[in-house]
Amino acid sequence: MNYIELSFTLSEKNPFSDIIIAKLNEIEFESYIESEKGVDAYIQKDFYNKQKVESVILDLKSLFAFDYSVKEIEQENWNSQWEENFHPVLINKDCAIRAHFHEPIDCKYEIIITPKMSFGTGHHETTFMMMNEMFEIEFENKSVLDMGCGTGVLAILANKLGSSKIIAIDIDEWSFENSKENAKLNSSENIEFILGNVSKINVEFDVILSNINRNIILQDIPRYVDYLLTNGNLLLSGFLNEDVELIRSEVEKLGLQFVSHKNKNKWNLLHFKK
Ligand SMILES: C[S@@+](CC[C@H](N)C(=O)[O-])C[C@H]1O[C@@H](n2cnc3c(N)ncnc32)[C@H](O)[C@@H]1O
Repeated sequence: MNYIELSFTLSEKNPFSDIIIAKLNEIEFESYIESEKGVDAYIQKDFYNKQKVESVILDLKSLFAFDYSVKEIEQENWNSQWEENFHPVLINKDCAIRAHFHEPIDCKYEIIITPKMSFGTGHHETTFMMMNEMFEIEFENKSVLDMGCGTGVLAILANKLGSSKIIAIDIDEWSFENSKENAKLNSSENIEFILGNVSKINVEFDVILSNINRNIILQDIPRYVDYLLTNGNLLLSGFLNEDVELIRSEVEKLGLQFVSHKNKNKWNLLHFKK
């Protein structure tokens, strides 16, 4: 699937880039690269809604001045961008992620990802926080759901941490294919990959991992809670500071206990237990 890139050029980065990201996050944009000149924001072409983007642009124009451009990114260009820019990531002392074209890294859990255009290389704050928080949970012989699996990196880590059964779901066909390839690269054989959304869940899990975005998470919370086993752990990420309280209260309303909250550069993770 191709992506749409929306590039903003700003005279002052702060706090305007944060406002842009907050607004775009509400209309399903999923990744952002901040640079000296401003912000580049990305969304899968199928989710791009021109009217919604124009309405956000109008809102932003009433707040501050900027230039912007929209372009479609071909799959092939995206791949070459990754190959140039993807450096190994150290998640913690035991876990690192690298691409197949990097030198091996000597650590307990080494994950090899060929990212293509799927989200989930460990470079993003949300992936990084999800992986770190996974080290706070028992995975040995546990069943795990990875919702919005992207590259499959969280499912692969769950496999390496000893999970007995893993289901990884993504709505995007490219991510679905890419995550299967990455699981093979890591000899993670007990992961079942499914193309689709939350409606595909029909068994209960010990651990549910969901790093998607504010709107999808809010919509899917009731189903996550229904399909989480007693004493199970729910890890949510992909939302900004201003959404933390709402997401926390929606989950607590359904009876889950709050465990912890992590924050990195305006991105957040919430951990709950049933
Ligand atoms: C932020 S990425 C996370 C990828 C990876 N799990 C990680 O932690 O890096 C979100 C992923 O969710 C997928 N996605 C978006 N909406 C979804 C939905 N309604 N159901 C399932 N997957 C969805 C996207 O295609 C994307 O691959």
